[in-house]
Amino acid sequence: MRVAVLGGGAWGTVLASVAASRGHEVALWEFHTKAAEELARTRTSARSVPGFSLPPAVAVTSDLARAVTGRDVVILVVPSDTVRATLAAARQVIAAGTLVICASKGLEPGSHLTMAQVIADVVPASRVVLLSGPSFAQEIAAGLPAALVAASADPRANETAVACLGGERFRIYTSDDVTGVAIGGALKNVMAIAVGCSDGFGFGLNARAALMTRGLAEMGRLAVRMGAHPLTLAGLAGFGDLVLTCTGELSRNRQVGLALARGETLEQIVASLGHVAEGIGTARTAAALADELNVDLPITRAVSSVLHEGKTARAAVTELLSRDVGEERG
Ligand SMILES: NC(=O)c1ccc[n+]([C@@H]2O[C@H](COP(=O)([O-])OP(=O)(O)OC[C@H]3O[C@@H](n4cnc5c(N)ncnc54)[C@H](O)[C@@H]3O)[C@@H](O)[C@H]2O)c1
Repeated sequence: MRVAVLGGGAWGTVLASVAASRGHEVALWEFHTKAAEELARTRTSARSVPGFSLPPAVAVTSDLARAVTGRDVVILVVPSDTVRATLAAARQVIAAGTLVICASKGLEPGSHLTMAQVIADVVPASRVVLLSGPSFAQEIAAGLPAALVAASADPRANETAVACLGGERFRIYTSDDVTGVAIGGALKNVMAIAVGCSDGFGFGLNARAALMTRGLAEMGRLAVRMGAHPLTLAGLAGFGDLVLTCTGELSRNRQVGLALARGETLEQIVASLGHVAEGIGTARTAAALADELNVDLPITRAVSSVLHEGKTARAAVTELLSRDVGEERG
């Protein structure tokens, strides 16, 4: 297959390498011209995984039209709030029927749309697959085993995605529940911020388990309200990625929570991360979406109020702990 990977950050460079290792012809597009030049020259960059270098078979470019023209598969790995603009800029050269695989996890600010909805909006003639599940780029780069999920309403699109990227150590299950997979992948990042905060305050493992469980309930409530199957949230894109992101030290969203507990400001945290932490924007968008759909998302709301409304993390935790307890499945 002829594959374009859009996004030369940690996950984009590693996915480009996975695609190249399957024998495809791979072009990797990087938004920042200087970073693209650095990637092309050194086969690594400040944003890629430490110690990882791109295989020679991956052609790096900052020319979007060149990367996308004539490709069978376009893999999106840019920050979720730039997916629309990136696709819109490439729309003219994306042929009808092209498989668009989205590995970005988040919700569009403003419209509150999932990534699958954004893609369908911009390139309606494409076939859309979401790629999600527990997958730290660093571990995939090291060749360690992982299981992911490809979600599409079109089973043949899922099959093509599996044929494009799947392998013995990169196991891709399939799902037809695009909404469930989208909401799981987006909201687990918000829960990781909450868990990082709780761990940073030293609240212990019981509190961590409670937050993750109630977080999963929250993710399920929103997803089901949007038409998802509840069991999808117990799968790789829900429970699986939630466990990884909340507990794995490689998680940037968890690092955001730990930094909040240390009293750092959002500006300081973003400046020191150097990579996108999708949970920051998703918290605000998911809180707004929950209002729109009249769904109760207390943890998401607490994270959003700390990040975007100036509430202290301590005050948010106190508020969460003083909520009425009730029927668990309510
Ligand atoms: N890192 C992981 O392990 C991992 C795993 C699974 C999914 N993801 C998801 O993949 C996506 C990308 O994550 P990452 O870790 O590669 O991030 P990153 O911060 O390492 O890289 C982000 C990339 O986006 C580019 N970019 C910045 N502004 C842009 C713009 N305006 N338009 C287009 N591109 C722009 C950057 O140049 C960079 O190449 C996120 O949605 C993330 O949640 C990451």
